[in-house]
Amino acid sequence: MKAPTLPYFLFNILLLIQSLALTTPIAHKSASCAKLNPRIEWRSLSEVQREKWISSVKCLGSIKHRRLSHIAQDVLLDGKHSIYDDFSYAHNAMQKSAHSNPYFLPWHRWFLYLFDTATREICGYKGPTPYWDWSQDSVSLLDSPVFDSSPSHGLGESGDCSEDRDCTITSGALVAPFFSLSFPIPHVLRRNLSLNTWADLGGGAHNQTIGAETVHNITSSFAGDFFRFQHKLTLMHNHIHNFVGGDLAGVCPKPISEETCEDNDYAGYTPNDPIFSLSIDIISGKILFLKILTAFRESL
Ligand SMILES: *[C@@H]1O[C@H](CO)[C@@H](O)[C@H](O)[C@H]1NC(C)=O
Ligand SMILES: *[C@@H]1O[C@H](CO)[C@@H](O)[C@H](O)[C@H]1NC(C)=O
Ligand SMILES: *[C@@H]1O[C@H](CO)[C@@H](O)[C@H](O)[C@H]1NC(C)=O
Repeated sequence: MKAPTLPYFLFNILLLIQSLALTTPIAHKSASCAKLNPRIEWRSLSEVQREKWISSVKCLGSIKHRRLSHIAQDVLLDGKHSIYDDFSYAHNAMQKSAHSNPYFLPWHRWFLYLFDTATREICGYKGPTPYWDWSQDSVSLLDSPVFDSSPSHGLGESGDCSEDRDCTITSGALVAPFFSLSFPIPHVLRRNLSLNTWADLGGGAHNQTIGAETVHNITSSFAGDFFRFQHKLTLMHNHIHNFVGGDLAGVCPKPISEETCEDNDYAGYTPNDPIFSLSIDIISGKILFLKILTAFRESL
């Protein structure tokens, strides 16, 4: 049995409660924000801006603490877990309750907000919040500027999937020893970019399934039918997890057998890849959140 430590249990409950609060219909429109943080698409950021954001991610990954003990045997890995790891932990803990249901969008939006706030309040990040509009790259995903190999401002390319390398990334700013992960076991970020069409997840070539026309169709076709809308949107977003592969696809590091991985519900550590926070924003931010709320309210 897994026994999360108390602070983490509370943290997760907090995430859940706050996400529930977000789903409550908004009663009036008068409230306005004093300050809005701009969200900027990755390719529109300067190299310096990209480097600063990546540095804040690495900063979260470098602040280790000992309070997480949530691994299979419940052994305390003293001081080995980082604040960055906490987000993966929380996401994995909410894999069932915040996915494939109406909490999916608001919970992830809140998750992203907390992550963004952590980069700012803990690591001093002051730049725009980045996102990746993958629909712009649907025709040629492997050439996306997101997979830049620069050691200072690149998120890195696909990993080395040869025999014992387990798709560990070897380029970009997130390679060892500058960035490492703790869940489900200590490892270095892994990716396995693959244009597999994942027919079981909605089929078709990526240039169709995550292209601008599909995004438009999904966001404009289901007014008043929140559940069908959410289902289609989830299928579309799954393609990104599966295209990028490795950590973003919830694949366990090799030393863990697939069976153990499944038995322990380890598939939710997808925020291990910082691309997570870039790619969920298209579903939570760019695709007008209000439109989603409107469709939701009309479906009540
Ligand atoms: C990488 O992805 C390809 C295509 O989906 C797959 O066949 C291969 O097994 C994966 N490699 C590893 C090491 O996971
Ligand atoms: C989309 O991908 C399919 C399958 O790879 C290919 O046959 C087709 O030409 C592509 N279409 C465009 C517009 O790139
Ligand atoms: C988008 O919707 C239109 C109208 O229903 C349809 O003809 C088209 O094939 C759809 N495109 C995609 C990529 O699903």
